[in-house]
Amino acid sequence: MSVPRRRWCSPAVRGLVFWVLLMNIMLVLYCLSNPTQPNIRSSQEDTCPIRMSKLWKENLTTPLQNTKPQCSPKVHIMFMKTHKTASSTILNILFRFGEKHQLKFAFPDGRNDFFYPSPFQCSQVKDYKPGDCFNIVCNHMRFDYQEVSKLLPPDAVYVTILRDPVDLFESSFHYYHQAVPLTWSIKSDNKLAEFLNSPQTFYRPEAFNSFYLKNLLFFDFGFDNNLESDNPRVTQALHTLSQRFHLVLMAEYFEESLILLKDTLCWTLEDVLYFKLNVRKSSSVSPLSLELRAKAMKWNGADWRLYRHFNATFWDKVEAFGQERMKREVNELRRRNGEMKDLCIEGGDAVEADQIQERRFVPWQPLGESSILGYNMKKDIDPKFRTMCQKMLTPEIQYLSELGVSLWLTRLWGWIKDTLY
Ligand SMILES: *[C@@H]1O[C@H](CO)[C@@H](O)[C@H](O)[C@H]1NC(C)=O
Ligand SMILES: *[C@@H]1O[C@H](CO)[C@@H](O)[C@H](O)[C@H]1NC(C)=O
Repeated sequence: MSVPRRRWCSPAVRGLVFWVLLMNIMLVLYCLSNPTQPNIRSSQEDTCPIRMSKLWKENLTTPLQNTKPQCSPKVHIMFMKTHKTASSTILNILFRFGEKHQLKFAFPDGRNDFFYPSPFQCSQVKDYKPGDCFNIVCNHMRFDYQEVSKLLPPDAVYVTILRDPVDLFESSFHYYHQAVPLTWSIKSDNKLAEFLNSPQTFYRPEAFNSFYLKNLLFFDFGFDNNLESDNPRVTQALHTLSQRFHLVLMAEYFEESLILLKDTLCWTLEDVLYFKLNVRKSSSVSPLSLELRAKAMKWNGADWRLYRHFNATFWDKVEAFGQERMKREVNELRRRNGEMKDLCIEGGDAVEADQIQERRFVPWQPLGESSILGYNMKKDIDPKFRTMCQKMLTPEIQYLSELGVSLWLTRLWGWIKDTLY
């Protein structure tokens, strides 16, 4: 008596139609927006001269009065923004610092990342001309040291952040599985568990977007994410990264990380005050049993090695900084953050997206969901703090717009996503 369930309505088919459509549109747009640049540059000419960095330093000594006379604030920074690692909160800190001191960012064009997952190339930078120099590079990219180093003076500080690969995998699976066609055939309600119980059934290295589901950190850093953890190339990759990055932060020790960042960059405590941005509501986090955690760890073995290696170097740095001093500074950071929270945030905490009154504070949501929290700003803020509150609460996409980045591709994508789902 009832109409038979029409098969083309199944989520998998709907997903397929969606992605085919989207990919076609994106491909056309990519070709239109990214005219191929002839590769005639010699790396010598492209490298930022050190002279540039000296000039910037001279210009910055006056506005940046630091309490520590023995160091001058660093203004040349490469922040390798990894996925699902609290990196959006660090981005907000960098945006605020850069804006305050009128630093020059190397921004992407038309979207919020450098054509991820394509490897980074200078030509992806907005208005780039060979020889251009910048202060800060910090948007999502697939890291390529040779290319990035052309944009920055040789004294640039390279920083990144890692997170426990098991939690990162859970988060990445939640956020991106709809974008990985391989997962559409998983029937069970607990897709994550079914995937981990038999990853080889649902995973192929060459499949579209599959990197989101295995060793995503390794992939972000530009390496092969399908290496087994005992492969000598993993060891070599760790060695290379240790040489490239001056500081590797840990999402699990976020406050200690910010203190080390402040110390490395010779910034003030005020510069690293923050509200956690892009946080997922806890009900959308799948709790993993110990058994599944062990499977996720094994599945992401290369990332696990990476994480363990830099966890050790991180704590060596804390040791060198001084455990007691670290405790003191973390307490002070907490106190100041608490003050800012009381000053800025209505209700004192993050709320779900549909509770956020102003559009400018609504964060970007994953495909087919609304699980990312945001904030309402208090109405009656002391004018002295109003701008700071506003900036601390502004999500990445909106902040990029305010900094003058055109985001038409990102916005179009968002529109398609929200219309179809
Ligand atoms: C430094 O400041 C001077 C004077 O304001 C300006 O002309 C120059 O372009 C600045 N240099 C840099 C590298 O920003
Ligand atoms: C990271 O280092 C800390 C301090 O040494 C240690 O307690 C913790 O277990 C380490 N985590 C991992 C995953 O190795």
